[in-house]
Amino acid sequence: MSIKLGIVFNFLQLPDVLKYPFVINKRTNGLLVRKGLFVFTKSIEGFLIGIVEKIVLLNEYFSDALTIKAYNNENNPNILKGLFPSEDFEYAVAIVRNLGIIEFTDSDESEIKTIKRMMYPASPGKEVYLVEDDILKDFVGLDEKYGLNLGKVKVSNLDACINMDRLLNKHFAILSISGGGKSYLTSVIIEELLSRKEDSGTPAIILIDVHGEYQYLNSVPSFKKKIKLIDTSYFQISVPHLNAVAYKKYQEQISNVQIRELSKYIKKLRKSDETKRNFTLSSIIELIEKEPEGGKSTNQALIGWLSDLERLNLFGPQENPNIKNIVNQGEISIFNLQKEISIRKKQIIVDYICNQLFYLRRNNEIPPFLLIVEEAHQFCPEAAHSKALSKYIIETIAREGRKFMACLCLISQRPKKLSTTALSQTNSKLILNIKNPYDLKHLMDSSETITKDYADMISSLSVGEMLVMGNAVNYPIFVDIRERRFKSKSENICLSQECINWKKLKLV
Ligand SMILES: Nc1ncnc2c1ncn2[C@@H]1O[C@H](COP(=O)(O)OP(=O)(O)OP(=O)(O)O)[C@@H](O)[C@H]1O
Ligand SMILES: [Mg+2]
Repeated sequence: MSIKLGIVFNFLQLPDVLKYPFVINKRTNGLLVRKGLFVFTKSIEGFLIGIVEKIVLLNEYFSDALTIKAYNNENNPNILKGLFPSEDFEYAVAIVRNLGIIEFTDSDESEIKTIKRMMYPASPGKEVYLVEDDILKDFVGLDEKYGLNLGKVKVSNLDACINMDRLLNKHFAILSISGGGKSYLTSVIIEELLSRKEDSGTPAIILIDVHGEYQYLNSVPSFKKKIKLIDTSYFQISVPHLNAVAYKKYQEQISNVQIRELSKYIKKLRKSDETKRNFTLSSIIELIEKEPEGGKSTNQALIGWLSDLERLNLFGPQENPNIKNIVNQGEISIFNLQKEISIRKKQIIVDYICNQLFYLRRNNEIPPFLLIVEEAHQFCPEAAHSKALSKYIIETIAREGRKFMACLCLISQRPKKLSTTALSQTNSKLILNIKNPYDLKHLMDSSETITKDYADMISSLSVGEMLVMGNAVNYPIFVDIRERRFKSKSENICLSQECINWKKLKLV
């Protein structure tokens, strides 16, 4: 039997179709009703489910300034104060925002058949009840059995087990201010994915770890076999596999004439027995110098562009690592970009990884994957002037990846700086605290589910709390993120401790 919470009544022009107020049963359950609680009442359409949006405490006794003055008058003896029945006048009103009408199956009163949009207000005088966890779970669309357990649904005892297919398949974004807990939440998601049973179907995970924050995963014994750490200091793009046009991407100013010439040199090297499929940028430069073909200025320019690329230390005779070999189901490959300073270099690396992944996935040469991009605004920025090499491919995966089971997770502390095209394609959003009004506005523009009310709530979330919305759940829910099972070594080190460590290190 559901717990009774109160009675619907008329208050401030309500109930209407969207909201209704109810007086909270003070004696029995006064403490139970809190903001965010899921409740239901029987309207003429059926079980009207809603969420407590606001609680107002009213006391007629204290609504008049003169009464309060008299009450607090110094001449008013304390004994008299005790005789005032002021507390009995206090009552609490909860304002509920309606979410929908539930229809149950004929055979089982707790099994949801459909959820309809409500068309008629709640009836004053009717009882309001607490929604039981079993019904709430189906209503929100949680997946107790195979879902990713990210924490607890706020103001309930329910585990926030988000269905993996629903979260991943239409892409998702994790957004908050710096230090809001994005990387922490990502670790929780990775823990859940890596801990899934083998037969439950888990995609391969590829993570662009910009700050080397996820390296600790490798020290977790149960994950050891499932983790590949890739230090991008040794990252190499295979020059023999690049055709001349590809250089246009890496070196924008290269002209069409120069590309035509370059393709001749590449062809020559590919044919030559000596170099065959084992040459580098310096081999091309040497060839241009030794056997110049086109105009002198074209050759000089080509040498200039190629030398500039060579200085990036990214191009070699073979691909390293071999993307096809490192992508395995239920495993994670972490690309550590910590040591890279040049943003251009980072973008080239990310662009190459994304392109290869998408190409291989389309040809069915690698399993379905989840690509997690930390600091996504660096690789897929919104502004037209901040050109990022990797923007095009990330936007392409965002637009088309779903059809090929190429899933994307974009993480950013500046949603405003993140490409709107990419952000609007991430159907589910895990939003932690965001304070910046421009970022909030950008989010509201990119998703119609984020209303002004939600924006206000987002700005008041604290560390460890998030809003889950979009395709992953039927209705937006607030979640207390669970603790991660494995801790990174650097997690609890504060500034002063780091300074002490540094000093010790220097003294040795
Ligand atoms: N759910 C949580 N429970 C406990 N502590 C948390 C939680 N989320 C974050 N923290 C703590 O808050 C701090 C910042 O978290 P985190 O590094 O994940 O932030 P971030 O959003 O990734 O920041 P940045 O944008 O700078 O990368 C960390 O020290 C972490 O331990
Ligand atoms: Mg982070």
